[in-house]
Amino acid sequence: MAKKNRASFVCQNCGSVHTQWQGKCDGCGEWNTIVEDNPLAGIGGGPGRAPKKGRVVPLTTLDGETEDAPRIVSRVVELDRVTGGGFVRGSAVLLGGEPGIGKSTLLMQAAAALSRAGHSVVYVSGEEAVAQVRLRAQRLKAADSDVQLAAETNVEDILATLGAADKRPDLVILDSIQTLWTDIVESAPGTVSQVRSSAQAMIKYAKSTGAAVVMVGHVTKEGNIAGPRVVEHMVDAVIQFEGDGSHQYRILRALKNRFGPTDEIGVFEMMSSGLRQVANPSELFLGERADNAPGTAVFAGMEGTRPLLVEIQALVAPTTLGTPRRAVVGWDSARLSMIIAVLQAHCGVNLGQHDVYLNVAGGYRISEPAADLAVACALISSLAGLALPTDCVYFGEVSLSGSVRPVPHAGQRLKEAEKLGFKSAAMPAGSSDIPKWSDGSLFETDKLVDLVVRIAGGKTLNRERNEEN
Ligand code: TYD
Ligand code: MG
Repeated sequence: MAKKNRASFVCQNCGSVHTQWQGKCDGCGEWNTIVEDNPLAGIGGGPGRAPKKGRVVPLTTLDGETEDAPRIVSRVVELDRVTGGGFVRGSAVLLGGEPGIGKSTLLMQAAAALSRAGHSVVYVSGEEAVAQVRLRAQRLKAADSDVQLAAETNVEDILATLGAADKRPDLVILDSIQTLWTDIVESAPGTVSQVRSSAQAMIKYAKSTGAAVVMVGHVTKEGNIAGPRVVEHMVDAVIQFEGDGSHQYRILRALKNRFGPTDEIGVFEMMSSGLRQVANPSELFLGERADNAPGTAVFAGMEGTRPLLVEIQALVAPTTLGTPRRAVVGWDSARLSMIIAVLQAHCGVNLGQHDVYLNVAGGYRISEPAADLAVACALISSLAGLALPTDCVYFGEVSLSGSVRPVPHAGQRLKEAEKLGFKSAAMPAGSSDIPKWSDGSLFETDKLVDLVVRIAGGKTLNRERNEEN
């Protein structure tokens, strides 16, 4: 039976395919995101013609000559750190982020730095007119660099332009992938198949010419790169630019990197003259610290190879609701529930009648379990109304049994704390590589309850046992 060339319906938010149009996508629950799409276009659609006879490709062994990936170093240190030492030639990078976060600014600054270092850089803007991009470049003091600029959205035209350039580009910036469209697909720009096919064409260009291609992708309110997730799988690296509108600083994070680490971050501050690199982020996140405020604890964290100190703020207040509120900003709410449960089960601290608010200062987001101890201490401090010592840092993972577990890089965390003037630390017992502190004191424990007693002292924390007595 002849295969029917039927149209399919694709959700523009998550990429799920449906056999008929419907108002709500079953895949992601979004409304009005389903659009008719031509299944013959791009990957996944399969060929509509008879398959051609295959060509024999030579098979080879895993063992053989290898080379380090050749890189284009931007000298924007924070950016190079996240990419793993610069953009890899012939690779495709997707830079995601919410609108207005500073993606175009970052790329323009990187483009200017690269072109000053002698690389040829082409910046293709699909969102802004040439005049707008020039204005930004002037503001960033990048206008005198040799960056080649074009305002174009058609992939075939872009490829022709790149091919006709005097010097083969080392880096091509496409701002943004959602505005690109190719002649081979009929649907409108921004639809899944357009974005997919355009990205595929540009990735092919990168692989065949050795130019690094950076594509900007918008992010939805859920934090996914808008449109097809497939683009994330197609590219070599996905980098996310984060931050919140009410704060000046921005964090660059690698979500995927075929050529480097994914745990490094780059920190920038948005100024009136562009993004400034922040070499010592701890100072930034501790900047506005109030002395003697109950409920705050400084967490000595790690981001990749860099230690980073950030303040954790907790507010514990008697609830007026049947079910107490738990609101978390910058940390995992399931993890907070776990800490609250451990405090109750093993330390006799009952927060069942209290609302709990937890905030990581400065709009920063922590993903390390090592923050458990700092969170627990901030909660206890707020509940007891007693401020923690201002010169103390906290780190350690709390287990469900109420024990405090060692975490990696204790030495580096302590060194950073010492550098910033901290004098003491509460940390897991049995940590390795602890440096000598000239005048610092360490409180090492393997039980969370020890620390609770130390913080709250004789104060009654509506402990169940006390209530029973
Ligand atoms: P932009 O790079 O256009 O964001 P994106 O490409 O991610 O949408 O930057 C947008 C914001 O940055 C804008 O609100 C203004 C601000 N900004 C500065 O504060 N200083 C600057 O030098 C520039 C260029 C932008
Ligand atoms: Mg932009």
